[in-house]
Amino acid sequence: MATQETPLIQARGLEGVVALDSELCFIDGQQGTLIYRGYDIFDLARHTSFEEVAYLLWNGHLPNRSERDELLARLQAERTLPPMVAELLGMTPEDASPMAVLRSAVSALALFDAEADDPSPEANYRKAIRLTARIPVLLAAFDRRRKGLPPVPPRKHGSTAFDFLHMLTGEEPGEAAERTFDTCLVLHAEHGLNASTFAARVIGATLSDIYSAVTGAIGALKGPLHGGANIEVMRMLLEIDRTGRDPVQYVKEKLARKERVMGFGHRVYKTLDPRAAILRDMVEALSEERGQRKWYDYSMKIMETMEREKGLYPNVDFFSAPVYYMLGIAPDLFTPIFAMSRITGWTAHLLEQWKDNRLIRPRAAYVGPRNLAVRPLDER
Ligand code: COA
Repeated sequence: MATQETPLIQARGLEGVVALDSELCFIDGQQGTLIYRGYDIFDLARHTSFEEVAYLLWNGHLPNRSERDELLARLQAERTLPPMVAELLGMTPEDASPMAVLRSAVSALALFDAEADDPSPEANYRKAIRLTARIPVLLAAFDRRRKGLPPVPPRKHGSTAFDFLHMLTGEEPGEAAERTFDTCLVLHAEHGLNASTFAARVIGATLSDIYSAVTGAIGALKGPLHGGANIEVMRMLLEIDRTGRDPVQYVKEKLARKERVMGFGHRVYKTLDPRAAILRDMVEALSEERGQRKWYDYSMKIMETMEREKGLYPNVDFFSAPVYYMLGIAPDLFTPIFAMSRITGWTAHLLEQWKDNRLIRPRAAYVGPRNLAVRPLDER
């Protein structure tokens, strides 16, 4: 036990601080490299499914066919909601933010999970699978209800991407839509010690339970500086479309007003986010395929303007927005979809945290007054 005070390091927003060791993710922000457990994101996006990536993050190696099938079967079996949670969804205001609904519903799921407070690695792994299986069911059920549509029950077969799109629309997605959406899930699954993952680990490091940590992570992801940016991106694209404004002028005026253009800039990447590069190609392909070239054109003009005016590059949220939109998904579901995928990264980090736990507890530099004396209440 140290007897002397540990020297303090000042880093606003914890920028550049290394808080822990992790085997999950490597990011080179200068080169634009992203690696999950040794595998490059371009390779994963091209050759793996979301379920394979979930397995990789949780278990440390890519699954063989039988391991993949077993995980898929477990996910499919967990695609149910406790009746009370389904009832809770039925009582939420229809105009509630889907992220707020998700946050509350995930917290409520804990109340109906007999294993919620079981800290064993086996129980936590089961809960990671359960959460990954149930978040899509929650989101689709809420979206259908607020649209006045009957729920589409989850199926006990098919991929997460297939089942989610089916529950959302009531129609079986085509192979191309399923593959596009599945790749989006792969791209969002993990990203090192980002704000929501850090929030999850901070909560987990107190030895609180997995549901509490994930609920906190959802709260962090909701913010527009983090996952909430994808909703703002779509709002911007829709406004440009509705008003017929020139995207270049639109962005320049926003910058002149000192406003942030969502979907640009990153704490770690100082070049193009590799996920954005993959998503950009997806926007181009979908725009062509669906005869909606305008979304690609607006996006590219905004991208070029931001690079020229501010030297800022798109992050994952910029091009994911038009992809989801062209898949027919409501803009306010974009951030919940991020959570639907990132649940795998959050839970992988929690499993890792609990293998070698230490409380996460930084310090604040006190800049308030000192030596004040308390005066009696009547004299203040
Ligand atoms: N639009 C306009 N200016 C931006 C910007 C954006 N999207 N992102 C950063 N900047 C500018 C800031 O205004 C600041 O300029 P200044 O030094 O003249 O004040 C400078 O770049 C540094 O920004 P800062 O907020 O300190 O960087 P950060 O590392 O803390 O922020 C983000 C990272 C992601 C929060 C920031 O880039 C941002 O707000 N982006 C928009 C939200 C978003 O897309 N989030 C999703 C991230 S995956």
